[in-house]
Amino acid sequence: MLTTNTEFLYPELMDVLRLFGEELPDIRHTFRAEGDRFLDEVETGGRTDFYEERMPYAGELEFRRYAKRFSKIALYRTLCKETGRAMPWGALTGIRPTKLAYAEAAAGRDFRALFEKCGVSPANIALIADVLRAQEGIYAREEGAADLYIGIPFCPSKCEYCSFITADIGRTGKYVDAYLDALEREIAACRGLFGKLNSVYIGGGTPLVLEPAQLRRVLDAAAPFAAGVEYTVEAGRPDVFTEEKLDLLRDYGVTRICVNPQTFCDDTLVRIGRRHTAADVYRAYEMARRYPFAVNLDLIAGLTGESVGDFCASVDAAIALAPDNITVHTLCLKKGARLKEEESRLCGAGLPEMIAYSRAALYAAGYEPYYLYRQKYMAGNCENTGWTRPGKACVYNVDVMEEITDNIACGANAVGKKLFPAQARIERFGSPKDIPTYIGKIDPIIERKRALYCGEKD
Ligand SMILES: C[S@@+](CC[C@H](N)C(=O)[O-])C[C@H]1O[C@@H](n2cnc3c(N)ncnc32)[C@H](O)[C@@H]1O
Ligand code: SF4
Repeated sequence: MLTTNTEFLYPELMDVLRLFGEELPDIRHTFRAEGDRFLDEVETGGRTDFYEERMPYAGELEFRRYAKRFSKIALYRTLCKETGRAMPWGALTGIRPTKLAYAEAAAGRDFRALFEKCGVSPANIALIADVLRAQEGIYAREEGAADLYIGIPFCPSKCEYCSFITADIGRTGKYVDAYLDALEREIAACRGLFGKLNSVYIGGGTPLVLEPAQLRRVLDAAAPFAAGVEYTVEAGRPDVFTEEKLDLLRDYGVTRICVNPQTFCDDTLVRIGRRHTAADVYRAYEMARRYPFAVNLDLIAGLTGESVGDFCASVDAAIALAPDNITVHTLCLKKGARLKEEESRLCGAGLPEMIAYSRAALYAAGYEPYYLYRQKYMAGNCENTGWTRPGKACVYNVDVMEEITDNIACGANAVGKKLFPAQARIERFGSPKDIPTYIGKIDPIIERKRALYCGEKD
């Protein structure tokens, strides 16, 4: 059990504790501040560690930020001593390490010093430096700039590991037409919600699970926004690719698509309920390459039952296809699932080797890491990294991960964001997860979005 004398530090300390994910002796944390001195005391397993940091601060907000930071580092250091273990991202528990790195740079400090203090591994510090380098020329804050997201929450079947709110179209197919009616209205209502649009992203789910006529409706609705900007369709699972659908994407000016193997191991594909084979991936990829799209492949490290060798073979197979982008995810828990049996799947065995191999192989093949994020319940406390051939980075992914533009999101469970830079705050807008609820509430959803993005009253 963890106790602290400072309530606002408790959730932060729990995040650090969770990284170690094991039965630990009771921990007593005490915090106090004296002027610019931050003093932490951590008592556990018969030892008491004392930590002191000095940092001038201006105002309550900044005081709390540093108090959280130093308390987390203090607890992390004690837990490392107690367990003899270290974490790849040290005491960092946030999902956007790059944002923290940019914030340090904005404050005139080198992010490396803070990351070292937090215990981040040298390999991860180097990775962050490479991501920042790859984002040069893309990372730009522009007043009124936005990206448009359109969600298609239907799939050919639900994959066993998937953490997205999306359903088997066999069960939800009856809603597709009404869903598209609502979606068309929501997309049309996006006119005037932004100054300049950087990109359009149709994600899911699996957009290509739609019939051609249904897909055309989505593309028609997006067309007024998509001219001349990066335009991605997360086409998705190889079992839904047809030339008719790819023709449509090309005709509507789509510039980038995803063909996602997750793994090239057929046994794993059966185990995770993907209902396609590696041969289907090759077929879909070969078909996609006959079109002028940039192509991304998604892989997942840590899939149930996969050995290090299985994963490394998938990395090699993906590289051999020479796509423009390869995204290496680490298995994370399904949202909302905090069950013990779920957690036990995230054992993390072999993860460091898998991630190290993917990095070495991708660097050697000429890819650069260009965006990176973490999730709360990830195997081995690792990360997801987007890799790109030079000059082929996806602007949408950078904008979304770095939160440098407004995100205007349409569809069930879509989460939009509005930036208020002057107040250093971001407001999120989430639509209902459930498809019939989304359809039924489309009018108030459109109204609330207008209010958020244009300051109009309900
Ligand atoms: C929204 S999904 C859409 C992709 C598309 N439907 C497909 O399956 O090919 C985007 C990506 O998230 C990743 N993903 C989904 N669930 C995950 C999980 N639990 N852990 C790690 N990555 C996950 C997969 O790599 C997937 O391709
Ligand atoms: S991984 Fe893709 S196809 Fe599988 S359930 Fe998730 S969104 Fe659907």
